[in-house]
Amino acid sequence: MRIVDLRSDTVTLPTPAMREAMYRAEVGDDVYGEDPTVNRLEAMAAERMGKEAALFVVSGTMGNLVSLLTHCGRGDEAIMGDKAHSFLYEAQGASVLGGIAVRTVLNLPNGMLDPTDVEAAIRDDNVHFPRTRLVCLENTHNRCGGAVLTPGQMSTIREVALRHGLAVHLDGARIFNAAVVLGIEAKEIAAQADSVQFCFSKGLSAPVGSAICGSAAFIKTARRNRKLVGGAMRQAGVIAAAAIVALEQMVDRLAEDHENAYVLAEGLAEIPGFDVDLKAVQSNIITFGLSTSRVQVRDVVKALASEGVKLGAISPTRFRAVTHYGINREDILTALAAMRKVMSQLA
Ligand SMILES: Cc1ncc(COP(=O)(O)O)c(C=O)c1O
Repeated sequence: MRIVDLRSDTVTLPTPAMREAMYRAEVGDDVYGEDPTVNRLEAMAAERMGKEAALFVVSGTMGNLVSLLTHCGRGDEAIMGDKAHSFLYEAQGASVLGGIAVRTVLNLPNGMLDPTDVEAAIRDDNVHFPRTRLVCLENTHNRCGGAVLTPGQMSTIREVALRHGLAVHLDGARIFNAAVVLGIEAKEIAAQADSVQFCFSKGLSAPVGSAICGSAAFIKTARRNRKLVGGAMRQAGVIAAAAIVALEQMVDRLAEDHENAYVLAEGLAEIPGFDVDLKAVQSNIITFGLSTSRVQVRDVVKALASEGVKLGAISPTRFRAVTHYGINREDILTALAAMRKVMSQLA
């Protein structure tokens, strides 16, 4: 049975071109700055984000952690949305390892923060308080169903940050999904932040890695912090080679994932028992619920798995489906047929 795995775009496998590039990669010791493939990737990443420099790291989690460690010292505070991946799913590394306080403000359903809330969360200079240093945004927004933030929306947060002398970090794990939806270059989104981390290992299908991009001075300190958390790699060109292929060959095709997500969402909306907001489907992530109390999310997930369709449960009442390189239109139709069958049996 062909498995249709809609749990995440992190399940994507490296393409044949990536495997070939990995096999042929020219490598050296990257801690000495001598891995030509890593150096090339970092130059490409900086260029794509419109920043002076970039740093290759092993994961999105490390990208966000190293960025926060670089912006903030112990006793500093970072403001982020209450549904930010960094807040919910990264083991609170910034607090645990960096002594950085994290203050959340409400994430709006469209992935944005309300600039008034952000401004109200900024601390006065007072011995009683940590020092606010940073505001974090996420684009596309994972927990907000792949919501896309426009540069205009982001600029409202950037203006607040600038007014208070704060930096802005962007968790752009899926920044290229946002850029493709908006029909703009990723650097136009990244321009609204001082630093950005983006992932090669999600929709872009590389097996490993993320890049942090920012000013040359920021990246110099980030490089030290990457070493601190054990993330300095040696012959990392082997994996950087796949990330180069990801940047060169896998960005434009994200549009296909967005189309497939919309077709899936339209199909789901027609199945009795599912509750889908089609207007909220912008990129490759769909979150949806149930319109009936006769079934439980976990039972639907289990029944679908036995039909060969893997879906995520992001809460006891909500599902998540993510389209990606490993999913074609036929898979979407297969998944919808299985969902129709399961819901008619359970609901
Ligand atoms: C928005 C966002 N940021 C960061 C990450 C962390 O990436 P990684 O799994 O590579 O650590 C993820 C992972 O799903 C994500 O969705």
